[in-house]
Amino acid sequence: MKTFNVGLIGMGTVGAGVAKILLEKNSPLHEKLDCVPALKGIADSNPEVKSKLNLPSDIFFTHDAKALLNNPDIQVIVELIGGVHPAKEIILEALQKGKDVVTANKMLLALHGAELFSQARRYGKSISFEASVGGGIPIIAALRDGFIANRIQSILGIVNGTTNYILTKMTKENVKYSDALAEAQKMGYAEKDPTMDVEGIDSSHKLAILAKIGFGVDFDYERIYHEGISNVEVSDIWYAYELGYTLKLVAIAKKEENMIELRVHPTLLPHDHPLSSVNGVFNAVCIQGSAVGETMLYGRGAGQMPTASAVVADLVDVALGRAGITFGAMKAFSGCCERVPISDINQIKTRYYLRFSVTDKPGVLAKISGILGNYDISIASVIQHKAKETGIVPLVMLTHLAEEGNLQKALDGIKQLDVVKDNTKFIRVEE
Ligand code: HSE
Repeated sequence: MKTFNVGLIGMGTVGAGVAKILLEKNSPLHEKLDCVPALKGIADSNPEVKSKLNLPSDIFFTHDAKALLNNPDIQVIVELIGGVHPAKEIILEALQKGKDVVTANKMLLALHGAELFSQARRYGKSISFEASVGGGIPIIAALRDGFIANRIQSILGIVNGTTNYILTKMTKENVKYSDALAEAQKMGYAEKDPTMDVEGIDSSHKLAILAKIGFGVDFDYERIYHEGISNVEVSDIWYAYELGYTLKLVAIAKKEENMIELRVHPTLLPHDHPLSSVNGVFNAVCIQGSAVGETMLYGRGAGQMPTASAVVADLVDVALGRAGITFGAMKAFSGCCERVPISDINQIKTRYYLRFSVTDKPGVLAKISGILGNYDISIASVIQHKAKETGIVPLVMLTHLAEEGNLQKALDGIKQLDVVKDNTKFIRVEE
């Protein structure tokens, strides 16, 4: 049995999962392969980690990543620190020292992928990153290899387990956002500071990676529109439900002629849309390809063993020599892809859910629909619920397709009406 030596930097939850798979005596890797990745060394700055791990004596443990980077016996470095610094410097040094790299670091790839990949090419090494999106779902391999014959037309994904858990709880248990978030934190799904997840930033990092691989184009990450779930109200989930829609945080990528749409926001999906039934911490990605048509990949998007499963798959690719071949052939992140602009959010055309808070008297609907009409926005359905004690009623509408810039102008006008008593809620719809 040939082995390929691995140095693991960052021994958190996922790192421990990777070690568990690599150190397993009757590992499926040994049953299926004649060349396996073998754990040689671990680096973690936390001195308590070693005592928790119960490592075999032949595994080298250090608090200093440099000890692994300088070790000539280690052929591949797994970076599981996360964040930009010092993960970026560690990866650059690993490549420079002639080591392949496996990482789960979506933020680093979204923000600095081009630089890292160009350095990897310079040194003839590879960077593999299956674990960066969708945890255990092999979505990168699917887009890069399995769907290579396709012109990818759209990618729609629930790629953040924390927000999907919160929204599922709000929908199924009628719980308000802050309580659902507290529960997610108690369960260990949401961080103490949940900003990256709940504001859609984590999803936008993942969307950038999927779009680069899927569309084979380059773009400016900063221009991706993202909006999180922290302002979602249970009442909107329920009114929309009544209209036939489920609310999800969706990462959306669409390829137009000379533009791409890249956006992350709370989105209403028809109840029978495949993503509507993706609940809890699960992730799923729907891909529309020119040859394959509609597909959906579904599974656990985070967590120790699902993410470790993806990291180890990458390690096997490196050990078998496949990673270098696919990395070398992949144009994404190479700097030689066509650079395309991302549509401004005001240019997108979609349907909208609107909830106005209005006084309940004759002529209100006519005033609002008049302004919408002036901006070419046509109403598809309307529901009005019972007045609250304040005399204010929620007036809920679903529009036909409209341009977002027009909607914004109409809402500015509607805000000036004396019958409108609060900011209007609007949620984009995806059919
Ligand atoms: N925080 C992420 C999520 C998992 O909730 O999906 C890591 O990408």
